[in-house]
Amino acid sequence: MLTNLTIKLKDNLAIPVIGFGTWQLKGEECRRTVSDALAIGYRHIDTADRYGNHHEVAAAIKDSGVDRSELFITTKIWLDSLHHQDVLADVDRFLNELELEYIDLLLIHWPNKDVAIAETLGAIEECRKVGKVKAIGVSNFTTHHLEEALATGIEIVNNQVELHPSFNQKELRQYCDQKNISVTAYSPLRAGDMDLPIVRSLSLKYGHSPAQIILNWIVSRNMIVIPQSTDKERMKENLSVTEFVIDEADLALLDSVPQGERFNDPEFGEFDR
Ligand SMILES: NC(=O)c1ccc[n+]([C@@H]2O[C@H](COP(=O)([O-])OP(=O)(O)OC[C@H]3O[C@@H](n4cnc5c(N)ncnc54)[C@H](OP(=O)(O)O)[C@@H]3O)[C@@H](O)[C@H]2O)c1
Repeated sequence: MLTNLTIKLKDNLAIPVIGFGTWQLKGEECRRTVSDALAIGYRHIDTADRYGNHHEVAAAIKDSGVDRSELFITTKIWLDSLHHQDVLADVDRFLNELELEYIDLLLIHWPNKDVAIAETLGAIEECRKVGKVKAIGVSNFTTHHLEEALATGIEIVNNQVELHPSFNQKELRQYCDQKNISVTAYSPLRAGDMDLPIVRSLSLKYGHSPAQIILNWIVSRNMIVIPQSTDKERMKENLSVTEFVIDEADLALLDSVPQGERFNDPEFGEFDR
């Protein structure tokens, strides 16, 4: 059994290591799956303005009856809304849509070289100071973007990036560790690593599914992960990966999977910076 069920981001703020992802979930399907996830025991929900599902996430939270203090809600500001006034307006709109008094973790969804990072982070920091946001993070940031962000002096506690065995972001993770920035792994399963021979063979050895082997490896390496599923059984499977231990030698085999291409590589990404 892994003991690390949360990672401390700041004083009095811990993030559950397994969250529930909601990209591409819309309308009734989103409300139903988030309701199922909360009923199964997920307490960390990952959404974004861009996903267009804040209202459905809010409805699911309301129906669940789970106390707000037990929940950890992450949302993200889209890259065309990073100027000061836009950020302030967005945060108020997000709170309204999510029917929340605060957002646990607010991320800049993608970097945007056309807006000074100090302007965006300054606006989010204002929201944090008045309690609308508990912690500030980023997503799809390279070490170069992180250096610029850290130079503002504003505390960045998380970087959410694509991460799975064949795209393990080794150098970025080392940098984040040095700077005390936690890493959240997105698209851990969608990119196709469940079919890797080593993942298949460890699945047989441990008697857990290929998805569970990948998710366990991520959490064993002290990261947060936000798998998504529309199926209750797979949701349970994904949430229960902290209940078994993979030997260090086998984790090391997963560390050394040959590296491939990123799966999420949109034109507006700034991965070359
Ligand atoms: N910050 C960003 O730019 C960014 C980008 C992408 C994603 N994200 C976040 O990360 C979350 C997760 O990433 P993702 O949605 O790309 O994909 P993912 O969670 O890696 O994979 C989801 C896919 O895997 C399947 N799946 C889930 N559990 C499984 C299991 N135990 N066994 C077999 N198949 C399983 C799902 O199918 P079923 O539904 O049929 O189970 C679905 O097709 C997103 O929802 C979003 O919240 C963030």
